[in-house]
Amino acid sequence: MRTQVGIVGAGPAGLMLAQILHLHGIDSVVLECRSREYVIERVRAGVLEQGTVDLMIQSGVGERLAREGMRHEGVHLAFLGARHRVDFVGLTGKAITVYGQNEVVKDLIDARRATGRPLHFEVEGVSVHALDSNTPRIRYQSGGQEHELVCDFIAGCDGFHGICRPSIPAGVLTAYERVYPFAWLGILAQAAPASEELVYALHERGFALFSMRSPRVTRLYLQCAADEDLEKWPDERIWEELITRLAMRDGWKPNVGPVLQKGITGMRSFVVEPMQYYRLFLAGDAAHIVPPTGAKGLNLAVSDVLLLSRGLAHSYQSGRRDLLDRYSADCLRRVWKAQRFSWWMTSMLHRQDDGNPFDYRRQLAELDYITSSRAAMTSLAENYVGLPID
Ligand code: FAD
Ligand code: DHB
Repeated sequence: MRTQVGIVGAGPAGLMLAQILHLHGIDSVVLECRSREYVIERVRAGVLEQGTVDLMIQSGVGERLAREGMRHEGVHLAFLGARHRVDFVGLTGKAITVYGQNEVVKDLIDARRATGRPLHFEVEGVSVHALDSNTPRIRYQSGGQEHELVCDFIAGCDGFHGICRPSIPAGVLTAYERVYPFAWLGILAQAAPASEELVYALHERGFALFSMRSPRVTRLYLQCAADEDLEKWPDERIWEELITRLAMRDGWKPNVGPVLQKGITGMRSFVVEPMQYYRLFLAGDAAHIVPPTGAKGLNLAVSDVLLLSRGLAHSYQSGRRDLLDRYSADCLRRVWKAQRFSWWMTSMLHRQDDGNPFDYRRQLAELDYITSSRAAMTSLAENYVGLPID
C-alpha cells in the first residue's frame, strides 16, 4: 500500500492535518489505535482560540462549531472571594470559543468520512521504519492482517504516549521537561452554567476552574495532589471542595447537579527539539505538552499541523523542501511562547505546597496587579486568545 502522508493518531492534530491535506489534494492514511467511540467520547479540552475557530471554518469543518460553539469575550480571575473580569475583546479585539474537543474530533471524523479517504480505527502494533530514506514505512495490524504502508512523509500525531517520538534514534532529540507537584480533578456535571464566562480561581485551599460545555452542562476542575486517588473523592466531597474554592462574597457559586464523568489529569511541561527527523514530523502532544491552565494544548496541535500542511503542500507543488525544513523552527517559536504562558498561568493560580506562605502572598499580589493594570491584563489577554500563527 502506498500513500503520500502516513498519519499516526486520530486526535485533533492527525485529523485536522488529514483534512487540510485533503483540501490541497494530497492523500493520506490515518491510523488510530483506539476505537471511534473511545476517541469521540474522550472528554478533554474545551477552549478554542480564534485562530483555531477560523481555521476550522476555512477548512470546511466549522459548520456545527459556528452554530453550537459558545463565543466568550472574556474570563474572570477570582481571588480573595471576588471575581475580576478580563475583557478579551476590549483589550485585543479577539474572543475565544468554548466547544468540546470531543465535538471537534467528531466533526473532523465526519468530514474525513465524507472525503472517502482512509481512516482506520483499532489498528494494532503500529511501528515506523526507514525514517531516513525517501520512502519511510508504517507497519501495523488490522482485521487480523499485517500491513505495510509506504509513504513520502510520516506525521507523528500520536500524542504524548505515542510511538513516533520514541522511534527517533537516541541522541537526535533534546527533551525539556518540568513535572508539577499537583494535578487536576475534573468533572462534567448536568447543571446549567452559573456564569456566562469561565472563572479561574486561586483559593487558600488551591486552584479551581469553572467552565462549561453547553447551556446545560458545567465543566469544573480543582487542584489536587499529583498522586491523588479518585476513589477518595465521592461526588459530595468534590462539590464541597469546589463550592468552598469558587463561592464568591457576592453570593455567586457554581450550580450543582449529577456528575456525568470524572477524571484526574497530571500536569507537565514538555518540549522536544527538533520536531522532525528526516521525513518524520511530530505534531501536537507527540512533540510538546503544556499544563492545561492556559488552555493551549489543543490549539498548539492545530497550529503545528497548519504549518506542517503548508510545508507539505509547498513541497508537492514546487518540489522544494525549504518550508518543510523550517517546520520545527517555525513551530517551536510559538510552542515556547505557549509554554511560557501556560507555566506562568499555572504558577500564578496553584498553591505551591512547600510550607512557605511567601508564594501565596506573592501570587495574590500578582493577581491584584494583573486585574488592575490594563497593560498586564492586555498581556494575559493576547496570550490567552492566541498569538499569531506566523
Ligand atoms: P491526542 O489528542 O492525544 O491524540 C493522539 C491520538 O493518537 C490519540 O487518539 C491516541 O489514541 C492515538 N495514538 C496513540 N498512540 C498511537 C499508536 N501507537 N498508534 C496509533 N494511534 C495512536 N488543550 C487546549 O487547547 N484547551 C483546553 O482547554 C485543554 N484542556 C485540557 C483538559 C484536560 C483535562 C486534558 C487532559 C487536556 C487538555 N488540553 C487542552 C490538551 C489537549 O487535550 C491536547 O493538547 C490535545 O488532545 C492534543 O491533540 P493531539 O492530536 O496532539 O493528541
Ligand atoms: C477548560 C480546560 C482548560 O484547561 C482551561 O484552561 C479552560 C477550560 C475546559 O475543559 O473547559
